[in-house]
Amino acid sequence: MQKIDNLIEQFLKELDYKPILNMLKNIKTGKKLRSKLLLAIALESEDAYKICAIIELIHLASLLHDDIIDESELRRGAKSLNALFGTKNALMLGDILYSKAFYELSQINTQFASIISNAVVKLAIGELMDVELAKSFNTNKQAYLTMIYNKTAVLIEASARCGAILAGYDEEDFAQYGKNLGLAFQMIDDILDLKSDEAILGKPIMSDFKEGKTTLPYIYLYESLNQEDRLYLQTLFKKELNENEKQWINLKLQEHKALEKAILEAKAYAEKASKAIKHYANAKLNDITQAMVDREF
Ligand code: FPP
Ligand code: MG
Repeated sequence: MQKIDNLIEQFLKELDYKPILNMLKNIKTGKKLRSKLLLAIALESEDAYKICAIIELIHLASLLHDDIIDESELRRGAKSLNALFGTKNALMLGDILYSKAFYELSQINTQFASIISNAVVKLAIGELMDVELAKSFNTNKQAYLTMIYNKTAVLIEASARCGAILAGYDEEDFAQYGKNLGLAFQMIDDILDLKSDEAILGKPIMSDFKEGKTTLPYIYLYESLNQEDRLYLQTLFKKELNENEKQWINLKLQEHKALEKAILEAKAYAEKASKAIKHYANAKLNDITQAMVDREF
């Protein structure tokens, strides 16, 4: 992963504008799931590392923009870039990161460029869907699935597809793997918002509902509540929750096993992912899938 960080730094040094590197220093590095995935599929090569750095730059850019959209002050346990440098700087840095990423991509070949640029279009559409869904209490599971597929799974799918191309494997098998792993990944993310704590997660917990995000556990909860409780849950939507209200949600989640149902669903997607590439018997990928399901942040 160090090699990828070095490449990112090298790409940004080439832009020859100090504030860019200064802002970059204030961003904590993430898990690099997409890179780990790509490198677990493809053999190490210059192109593989470059594509990883490009994908991480795009992912980073999308998080900078996402934190502006979600007005988040915290990311990876530290102040978000918009909180540190203001919205204007965070917005432009995001533009710089993904524009540089596309430039580097154009230097490799058009096949990777078309896969990744198509994925980024869907990523932005997914964010639009997220914003749209957040306008009202969403009880439509299919709408949630379509949104998380675009917002999160698409870039993971593209990373797995690029890895397969580099390795000379069947693209579709690995695209299936990446897509289902990505869906499971976002579901776990949404579950952690309800069951983790701020110190471990690096961002506030139970904040999705306040942001208007009716995630999978809430959809399952709503489905199993009686009419009176449904109406009460709806009054809490987008509200700054007090301790009593948080407790009520947690109690009802337990009572109706809504978190367990969501965890089972995430695990089913992770299994579907593993199944798609079973015949490759890739131990590293199995570990990645398992760690992703078991993760606490
Ligand atoms: C996090 O979701 C957001 C994403 C995974 C995608 C965001 C995509 C864009 C803003 C499109 C723009 C794209 C580029 C390349 C600039 P979340 O808010 O559910 O997760 P969080 O809790 O980690 O913030
Ligand atoms: Mg967000």
